[in-house]
Amino acid sequence: MTEPGALSVRPRRLRQTAAVRRLVAQERLSPADLVLPLFVKEGIDAPVPVPSMPGVVQHTRESLRKAVAEAVAAGVGGLILFGIPAVKDARGSGADDPDGVVQVALRDTVSEVGDAAVVMADLCLDEYTDHGHCGVLTETGEVDNDATLRRYASIAVAQAAAGAQFVGPSGMMDGQVAAIRAALDGAGHHDVGIMAYSAKYASAFYGPFRDAAECSPQFGDRASYQQDPARSSDEAVREARLDIAEGADLVMVKPAVGYLDVVRRIADAVDVPVAAYSVSGEYAMVEAAAANGWLDRERTILELLTSIKRAGADIVLTYWATEFARLL
Ligand code: PBG
Repeated sequence: MTEPGALSVRPRRLRQTAAVRRLVAQERLSPADLVLPLFVKEGIDAPVPVPSMPGVVQHTRESLRKAVAEAVAAGVGGLILFGIPAVKDARGSGADDPDGVVQVALRDTVSEVGDAAVVMADLCLDEYTDHGHCGVLTETGEVDNDATLRRYASIAVAQAAAGAQFVGPSGMMDGQVAAIRAALDGAGHHDVGIMAYSAKYASAFYGPFRDAAECSPQFGDRASYQQDPARSSDEAVREARLDIAEGADLVMVKPAVGYLDVVRRIADAVDVPVAAYSVSGEYAMVEAAAANGWLDRERTILELLTSIKRAGADIVLTYWATEFARLL
């Protein structure tokens, strides 16, 4: 028996001081890896706080400009915009209106940040439809996949024309990446990329977002188009491969925490950059616990974001992007 004092294999050597730990750290978050999601609402004259996401607001045009400028000053790598229109209808007309809320916000953002950060737009219909589903409906109330693709194609062109450098289709319709790529190319937007929400699960963790974006389905749920958390990660890999074959430039997994196995599987399987979206429910859980004094807020956030990178994400979408870019 080896006496403890005679041990030669000692993993703790690499942990013994802060300097050693810093030297051997393998996961380093950088502001450039972070993408900040932002909400902009039409027809409000002051920012509206989102109760379930303390620190997050629905922006006015003016407060959005300020927030994007702050994010860029902190070094954040990208911005993704979500619009909330003043008026909703069955086909989500505001989504591809050249003067719709997100198109206006994209033009403002591009004029504010130029090339200093990547400007993206979430591409979906749920914020724009009166029924709150991510697509248009058939007469019997099902989400009509192929009719929705025609709407997405038109939205992609409107967002590109307004200055989006990447569009992020988040509706989980079959064939959405191919339809959007064809539409962008057909309109001459060859340089506009697609960040595909490839593995997006039907998740309870989107609850606070649906308050922020005012997009809860008015009937039913999204389980017929978003993935079932009970399926194996094989399905997620298949979805990512399909999206890449259809022309996705980046693929995304969503939510992040709870799906780190999926992030790792996809990172190992594909050769395009992988993003993971740390969603509203992840944000709300940490903020709520920290507000109660139950968690050390900064340490928890850093640990959580680090775990997402360690799982294999190159890019992390997080509502903490500006704050953490400043701390990093
Ligand atoms: C759909 C969309 C959702 C999120 C991003 N895009 C909500 C949903 O699918 O219900 C959720 C993001 C979050 O929870 O932070 N357009």
